[in-house]
Amino acid sequence: MKRVVFTEAEIASRVGELGAAITDAYPDGDLLVLGLLKGSFIFVSDLVRAIRRPLQVDFLVVSSYGNEMVSSGNVRLVYDPETVLAGKHILLVEDIVDTGRTLARVMEILRARGPRSIEVCALLDKHDRSFIPTPPRFLGFDAPSEFLVGYGLDHAENFRHLPYVASLQ
Ligand code: PRP
Repeated sequence: MKRVVFTEAEIASRVGELGAAITDAYPDGDLLVLGLLKGSFIFVSDLVRAIRRPLQVDFLVVSSYGNEMVSSGNVRLVYDPETVLAGKHILLVEDIVDTGRTLARVMEILRARGPRSIEVCALLDKHDRSFIPTPPRFLGFDAPSEFLVGYGLDHAENFRHLPYVASLQ
């Protein structure tokens, strides 16, 4: 491990701010927070506790990387939420936007289900926008272009449990 990129305290503070911004952004209507597993599992659990309004939580499972350190571009939908999406505000929660391939594909799938709105909340964004038409509406941090692990992010399924974000390179 090379260095800690975002400490536990920095993440907690930023997640609190994101929760407040999301609370203010959705004054009415049903809000469904949809976490992209596995990477978002810690972020979602902290984020929903910082949102002060009624909401529901569900998850999507997609897989794009396998055990490699580079994106394969092969986004597979492994679990589809049973919650009805039509007419609801959908807040899609991602741990990290890298190439944006995953987000682009998932947005396409979700838009077809007639939600009232779809926005993205990402903890980290590497700003390689090649594959996404719009940036996340809610963003935790700009991320360096290094391989990051911790706070849900893995390398070959390891390191997800770290309470901070670190670089492996
Ligand atoms: C990672 C990460 C994002 C995606 C970002 O998921 O959680 O979902 O890659 O990359 P992209 O912007 O280039 O598409 P991964 O497929 O590794 O699965 P995981 O969430 O189970 O770790």
